[in-house]
Amino acid sequence: MQQRENWGSRLGFLLAAAGSAVGLGNIWRFPYLTGENGGSAFIVIYLVCVFVIGLSIMIAEFTVGRRSSLAAVGAYKSYSRNWTFVGVIGVLSGFLIMGFYPVVGGWALAYIIKSVSGLLTTPDAIGDTFVTFISGSVQPLIWMLVFLALNVAIVAKGIAGGIEKASKILMPTLLVLLIFIGIRSVSLPGADAGLKFLFSPDWSQVTGQTFLAALGQAFFSLSLGMGCMITYGSYLNKEENLAKNATIVTSLDTLCAILAGIAIFPALFAFGMTPDQGPGLVFVIVPSIFAAMGSAGVFFSTLFFIALAVAALTSSVSLLEVVVAYLIDERGMPRKRAVYSASGVMAVLCIMASLSLGVTSHITFLGVGAFDFFDILTDKIFLAVGGMLLAIFAGWVYKKEDLKDELTNGGKVQFGLFEIWYALIKYIIPIAIAVIAFMGIRSIAQTGLMIFGLLVIAVLAVFSKKL
Ligand code: TRP
Repeated sequence: MQQRENWGSRLGFLLAAAGSAVGLGNIWRFPYLTGENGGSAFIVIYLVCVFVIGLSIMIAEFTVGRRSSLAAVGAYKSYSRNWTFVGVIGVLSGFLIMGFYPVVGGWALAYIIKSVSGLLTTPDAIGDTFVTFISGSVQPLIWMLVFLALNVAIVAKGIAGGIEKASKILMPTLLVLLIFIGIRSVSLPGADAGLKFLFSPDWSQVTGQTFLAALGQAFFSLSLGMGCMITYGSYLNKEENLAKNATIVTSLDTLCAILAGIAIFPALFAFGMTPDQGPGLVFVIVPSIFAAMGSAGVFFSTLFFIALAVAALTSSVSLLEVVVAYLIDERGMPRKRAVYSASGVMAVLCIMASLSLGVTSHITFLGVGAFDFFDILTDKIFLAVGGMLLAIFAGWVYKKEDLKDELTNGGKVQFGLFEIWYALIKYIIPIAIAVIAFMGIRSIAQTGLMIFGLLVIAVLAVFSKKL
């Protein structure tokens, strides 16, 4: 058997896993979801989802991944063939998320150039610039392809060489920048309304939807529910403390999301804008913060979008890696070929997604365009169901001794909370996810889409033994 690749170092793994987690999910998506779902009550529910459900699932993904030394599909299949389909849902989610993620990654790249060239210095024009830009047919596509090409270049190089090196330099830069922008934002006159929006909960706006949105966002932001952390865990050496690593990654990810919120909302309220701006939020607010600063603003806005693009890149490589690892491990493809064929399919999906925001916006399926279709299907259904199935798999199919052995490195390290974690994974989390999904589906606008997603999962489950 071919020697399996491993992470170059402990820090390398941590940064890569944190790099996977911290991305557009934190900086682009978390703020606008918070804005749409009424602010701090959403954040409180989100934090509970992250630290009770997300963290436990991340520990489980690392455990299952390292135990099997196989990527998502293989990790399930090697333990029980009936469960192969959960891995396959993961690979499918990887394709679908990569069907819109690079589109937004491309926006970030484009905004680097727009910042440098001073296009974002007139505050009144910033909002229009965004809408005109993303609904265009040429520019966003070119930037998306550039973004995808960067992914290909990194993933083709393999684990330690590409992904790890890129993360090591760029993740710390992002953190520093977010803090800087946050300080700037909080010090604007009128910023306190934003802090209030972020930190004093108004429960009157909370519905079943809010819970599903928070749960989906927790999975999305922590890169869970599709075998991504199983795959990263499978490259991790046997000396590492899994629970500790999962805690660090989860905390870092949450820190970045909250920092992004602090960077955006105080400024938003200071400018007298409304929080429910949707996907354009960061692309409008951050340039607006800097527009008033003259040439220093040009510099910082450029730096911000570089950091955003990089954060997006370290995440998207992990998504591509799930698909690629499947093709290598299960289909016996050489790495390069796996990378090219997977990204080719993703490019086609991304073209559909990007155009659906402009020229093809009239074409819908089950009520939504391609961009929203890929987004909602993964975030609101596949990831949550994938996470629930993983919990059931770990709790009911996996042997308890195997989990304990792996989590304690064969008795070498302590995991004092093992019993609590195990009860969460086995009973509480599957039930909690089922309840939240049910509440969410009842109150959601896209019931047809939900049912479609569940049907896809059912079909995969039935045919899984052939995979
Ligand atoms: N977590 C990343 C972000 O917040 C996106 C991502 C990377 C992801 N890998 C994933 C989402 C796996 C779900 C599953 O931007």
